Amino acid sequence: MPTDPIDPTTLTWPRGFIWGSSTSSYQIEGAAREDGRGLSIWDTRCLTKGKVANGDTGDVACDHYHRYKEDVALMKALDLQVYRFSIAWPRVLPRGRGVPNELGLDFYDRLIDEVLEAGIDPWICLYHWDLPQALDDLGGWTNRDIAGWFADYTALCAMRYGDRVKKWATFNEFCVFTLFGYAIDWGAPGVVDRAAHLKAIHHVNLAHGASVDVIRALVPEASIGAVHNWQITRAEGDLPANEHAAELLDQHWNRAFPDPQLLGCYPPLIAPEIEPYVQAGDMARICRPIDWFGLNHYGPIFVKADLSTTWGFAWGSPPADAPRSEIGWPIYPGDFRDVLIDLTKRYKLPVYVTENGCGAGDDKPDEAGAVDDPKRIAFLTAYIAAMHEAIQAGADVRGYLVWSLLDNFEWGSGYTQRFGIVYVDFETQQRIPKSSAQWFAKLVKAKRAP
Ligand code: FCB
Repeated sequence: MPTDPIDPTTLTWPRGFIWGSSTSSYQIEGAAREDGRGLSIWDTRCLTKGKVANGDTGDVACDHYHRYKEDVALMKALDLQVYRFSIAWPRVLPRGRGVPNELGLDFYDRLIDEVLEAGIDPWICLYHWDLPQALDDLGGWTNRDIAGWFADYTALCAMRYGDRVKKWATFNEFCVFTLFGYAIDWGAPGVVDRAAHLKAIHHVNLAHGASVDVIRALVPEASIGAVHNWQITRAEGDLPANEHAAELLDQHWNRAFPDPQLLGCYPPLIAPEIEPYVQAGDMARICRPIDWFGLNHYGPIFVKADLSTTWGFAWGSPPADAPRSEIGWPIYPGDFRDVLIDLTKRYKLPVYVTENGCGAGDDKPDEAGAVDDPKRIAFLTAYIAAMHEAIQAGADVRGYLVWSLLDNFEWGSGYTQRFGIVYVDFETQQRIPKSSAQWFAKLVKAKRAP
């Protein structure tokens, strides 16, 4: 990390640049079996022994389903301009398709109204990994029909919320939930199978294209994007086999979705493998015009060859002297700058940073009840300064949404990793803005576009 990063409040940001925060449904809502919500593949995974740290579940999480007013008030107090949240597909369509659940739909009506009332712009992400279990029982993302099911779910949401919500993202991190869910058993549904993974990639891409068309038709003034996780993949050490593994992971992680969606073709190492699942007209169905690129960025992935895995690559170790966050993720703000510059050139779309943030294991209140998190402030300072450098070098970045508003259910790590700028006591559900929240609020206040 730079030893002396620039204080971002002293920097000049482009006109209209926006600041906000992101969350996701399964990670914060709780109320997993309330008001008719159906089960998702993450409910199932949490019940599967050994898949989530400490046997944690999203059953209660941050209880946001009941405490959303308090959470919106927190964002208002922090002066945030944008709130990106996701809709839990099984809350509005308990079986994934068919009869909608009015009580579930009502929840997002209340949330959206509250957010608007607070003067914050609500951004919807349609899919942040909580697939209805009923659809997984039919093959989930490996079943080509899912593109139609996702389009129908999109239509339900667009018709219901499109009057008030104008920023729409189809998916969050296509690469993560398909790779972890179908090739590496790090996420739901926990299948490990190359063909299943390839089908999932292609069907998710088809679902994205179909969803874009539906939103465009039903919400004519919508600004539509997709949220991609993009990290630089680096070989562990300098073995040629690791270099190849890093190149293959780059194509899987970074390009398997944006390339077909925005350039109309799969990257070269994946294209021949996926060919058997591609039908006539598919690439045109996937490559639909969108308005912005959502970037979730954390740090580089170090890669090594490992022939025992589905694709022959595995996560390697960063160099011993690499700076790391408390939870071990490498901290490379320069990568963030480079990725932002490269994305602008490659895809020629405005970029919103839809997630960036720093995980910690031991954020906790001191005796006075305050939560001081200087490492997170240092991380955000360095990354936001790097984003500024990218903008100065020509990257078309329009906004920054921190991950995350609240400490929450961090997937396979359960509640052991805290990413919030607001501390959550999971016993009492008390929220305490950390010092990073105060720091972020100061930045937003200073730099808020009129
Ligand atoms: C991203 C996910 C988000 C959260 C952060 C830490 O990959 O989109 O849900 O888990 O990582």
